Amino acid sequence: MLDLLGDVAGRRIVDAGCGSGPLLADLEERGASVAGFDASPAMIRLARERLGAEADLEVADLTQPLPYDDEAFDDALAVLVLHYLEDWSRPLAELRRVLKPGGRLVVVVNHPVIPPVLYPELDYFATVPNEEEYDFDGVFATLTIWYRSLSAMSDSFTAEGFRILAISEPPVSPETPPELLPPSESDPTRFIGFIFFVLEAGS
Ligand SMILES: C[S@@+](CC[C@H](N)C(=O)[O-])C[C@H]1O[C@@H](n2cnc3c(N)ncnc32)[C@H](O)[C@@H]1O
Repeated sequence: MLDLLGDVAGRRIVDAGCGSGPLLADLEERGASVAGFDASPAMIRLARERLGAEADLEVADLTQPLPYDDEAFDDALAVLVLHYLEDWSRPLAELRRVLKPGGRLVVVVNHPVIPPVLYPELDYFATVPNEEEYDFDGVFATLTIWYRSLSAMSDSFTAEGFRILAISEPPVSPETPPELLPPSESDPTRFIGFIFFVLEAGS
């Protein structure tokens, strides 16, 4: 994300579904003026612990009107959040509204090739929910991921007035501690997990 965003000094950036705010902290360190929101009050509490009591953080739902003025931001980020939503039209319209014309939206979602590889029973061309079991260090959770094709993603972006500037499938960062890499017989720094889009808001 940091590589894709480049020099962010002086830019006003909102992180949609910011979780506990690690990216906001990195961006602030690089001179950006940051805001974040998440549907989970517990996540916003953790983000406030990380960023400080005065940080611009809100509990808000990406499927609802967002608590920001029109054209308030230079950049918006939606990292691993849109794939929990079936309908992207309202979230994308809201993100576009709060972005300045020409502003960037960076989206990261589960890669669309995951279903054909891992869940061949799913129809690649349909927008379908898939329940996945995760073990988060002993805490078990079922996440519902809405998969959709690459062209469905692209159609959603263009329908809401975004232009695709870049698609990226980056390797993990060279600073990643080896114990955090997935077990793999081939190069563990290259695996199909996520797809990154850099979008530009039309004027
Ligand atoms: C996988 S986490 C990603 C967190 C953060 N973006 C990151 O990369 O560390 C997904 C986050 O999206 C939030 N979320 C899910 N649905 C949301 C919605 N409709 N509106 C806002 N946040 C949502 C969850 O509460 C959670 O914090």
